[in-house]
Amino acid sequence: MKIDGIPYRTIWLADDASVAIIDQTRLPHEFVIAHMTSVAEAVYAIKTMQVRGAPLIGAMAAYGVALAIRADASDAALDAAIAVLAASRPTAINLAWALKVMDGVLRPLPPDQRADAAFARAAQLCDEDASTNRRIGEQGVAIIREHAPRKVGGVINILTHCNAGWLATVDWGTALAPIYIAHDEGLPVHVWVDETRPRNQGAALTAYELGAHGVPHTVIADNAGGHLMQHGQVDLCIVGADRVAANGDAANKIGTYLKALAAYDNGVPFFVAAPHSTIDWQLNDGGAIPIEERDAREVTHITGRTETGAIATVQVTAPGSAAANPAFDVTPARLISGLITERGVCSASANALTALFPGSTPPQ
Ligand code: MRU
Repeated sequence: MKIDGIPYRTIWLADDASVAIIDQTRLPHEFVIAHMTSVAEAVYAIKTMQVRGAPLIGAMAAYGVALAIRADASDAALDAAIAVLAASRPTAINLAWALKVMDGVLRPLPPDQRADAAFARAAQLCDEDASTNRRIGEQGVAIIREHAPRKVGGVINILTHCNAGWLATVDWGTALAPIYIAHDEGLPVHVWVDETRPRNQGAALTAYELGAHGVPHTVIADNAGGHLMQHGQVDLCIVGADRVAANGDAANKIGTYLKALAAYDNGVPFFVAAPHSTIDWQLNDGGAIPIEERDAREVTHITGRTETGAIATVQVTAPGSAAANPAFDVTPARLISGLITERGVCSASANALTALFPGSTPPQ
């Protein structure tokens, strides 16, 4: 996707020495490219959310393994890199998926062949992510098109939560990919963007990338969605996912479940967009998905630009108030109208998922 007319991905091999990323902790106020030169820097980027979003975390992990192997191509170094990257964030299964892909390619090779193979596979994984997400967009745009005849002369209003756009992936995004394609086709779409406290990925990232692409959008407080649905101002919801269990239960950014409840109560279709790398076939349902607990400071403090142009962090709570920060929640499959995958749109159920992805079966 483009920023100021220049096409970017969120991660790329910059040169022999480094992997470049867009530092998402600086957006939307500053566009800063950071360079990773070691596995420790890759881990830091994931933990601090310089890179975030399930597919992009996987891509960063793949390049993290490559950076580690370039420094030391032994089995012990491969084991250590995989262990430290796997522990960097717990909820997005794309991380473990990418590490398994890298391990499968590198382990059988003699050490002197591993570095080149690692960078090549990481680059390929990134290309695959971009094309997978483009296909998610092509599958999902049909759902948006279905709404067009009912909205003659009107706008199709889509609500999304957090950031599941191109910034959360290598390119295109998952939940936003159908919206970009719909917009490019000339369909009149407008996006309600949940601000997504505490880290404001909606306000800071989704609004930024929709704006850069010219997609009409409005940022709303997280609590506004139910009211808008009650008043017929939301035609459908599309969100991303960090882990989809084999039965279709979907973990996504905290607050997603509340939007799904409100959508269900108001008869608003609620779709989850996710690639195959986000499906955890080892979990029968979402009950065992690990939920990341992040620093309470993300709740008690907020960062933004002051009127003088400075970036400042301020405290919003009374001193001494405790804060809790569960970063994800699980939306039960029964509240999900459908899963948008690169292979098609299916119901959120084990049977439908295994029909789309034959051979990938849940445990008995
Ligand atoms: O904590 P984050 O910003 O990594 O959470 C991201 C989300 O919840 C996204 O919706 C999800 O990863 C889908 S990414 C296409």
